[in-house]
Amino acid sequence: MSNSNRNKLSVEEVREHIPLTKKCIYVDNGSTTPVPIPVMEAMEKYFLEYCTNVGRGGYKLAEKATRTFDLARKNTAELLLNCKMEELIFTRNLTHASNIIAYALEHPSLDRVQGVFEYGKPLVEWEKDDKIITTVMEHHANLMPWIRLAKNLGIEVNIIEPTQDGILLPESFYEVVDDSTKFVAFQHVSNSMGTIHKVKEIIKVVKKKNPLALVYIDGSQGPGHLPVDVYDLGCDFYGFSGHKGPLGPPGTGGLFVKKDLLPNMAVMELGGGIVSDVTLNDWELQSDVLSKRFDAGTPNIVGLIGLGRAAKYVTHEIGLKAIEKREHLLTKRLLEGIQDINNIHLYIPQDSSYIGGTVTFNINGWTCTELSSILAKKWNILTRAGHHCTIPLMRFLNVLDEYGGHIRVTFHYFNTEEEVDKIIEAIKTLAKAKP
Ligand code: ALA
Repeated sequence: MSNSNRNKLSVEEVREHIPLTKKCIYVDNGSTTPVPIPVMEAMEKYFLEYCTNVGRGGYKLAEKATRTFDLARKNTAELLLNCKMEELIFTRNLTHASNIIAYALEHPSLDRVQGVFEYGKPLVEWEKDDKIITTVMEHHANLMPWIRLAKNLGIEVNIIEPTQDGILLPESFYEVVDDSTKFVAFQHVSNSMGTIHKVKEIIKVVKKKNPLALVYIDGSQGPGHLPVDVYDLGCDFYGFSGHKGPLGPPGTGGLFVKKDLLPNMAVMELGGGIVSDVTLNDWELQSDVLSKRFDAGTPNIVGLIGLGRAAKYVTHEIGLKAIEKREHLLTKRLLEGIQDINNIHLYIPQDSSYIGGTVTFNINGWTCTELSSILAKKWNILTRAGHHCTIPLMRFLNVLDEYGGHIRVTFHYFNTEEEVDKIIEAIKTLAKAKP
């Protein structure tokens, strides 16, 4: 074993950091993940030792809070997305990220620049035949904001369909994107089918057809589960939640915005902490770290410090490649154990190169909520069932009426082979109960 591997945390060590693993088989990581003790300790330290506001106080403890908060932004940006802290807006979650973009796409920025208070150049100069493109697979948080935006602007949303096994094909984008495409939004990893999409390839196609089209990636199920490099992907915006892959606390997240877009990006929330001057007629937004313009009001200081710590935990202490590999192995083991069950329906890509740490399925004769609830009651296996906030995809898969959606198992690094085997046995027992 190499030195670098020897220093990494084993599965057992991570389980020691997550007390919940002793109480149940937790495989609802797509929904939210448990927070490891070292992350909680960083948050506790803030409360116990320097619980003060950021960017405001002139005394030592407040300076420490500001420094630690800035470091959290730097670590989150560099370790989870490979971008600069100036390009990372802190958010509450992915939904917040999408809404920040939607606001900025609809409104020009308003700021005093070189003494003149005026509207900046809009991010997009919309024309009546323009369109937004998104896909059937999206979470509601990467769909509803675009439907409203399009309605407000009087333009169209074009929807791309995946293959029946949940793959977004680059050629589907090639067919639809043209000069009138101004904004394209799609996911990195599907929360409902587990597909890890070929994002880089798709973005290349989009930009080839229209270099001016802005591309937003919903990375809710990406960072913390696998290495992400936003420059390599070639996107303009990339959003994620802190409480999923990164093992951070709920109420945290981030939005990468390409540097050249930030100066013209309208700020959705106005208030304290984001300005260098305010008069009774105008204001001047702070200009050193542009992403801080989106921090109006006191931010979720403790949560975001936790997110910064979590970024180090998953990146340095476990290793993102190790997480990705392990989730893939656990998924493979689960699939090998259940794929031949007679009355099971799997909703995952056929090509295993698209598969990550998620398996979704139904069993004839059961609704997905019945299955999920019996798995919890009888075997202490915690899954999620339902539409997973992707109702259009559930309609596309035709699973709403008969099953009420589908049931989902989502792994993280701390899940074990023994847990997978118990899940397999439980599913086999349930499948036999209703042949
Ligand atoms: N969006 C989260 C999920 O997929 C809550 O479960």
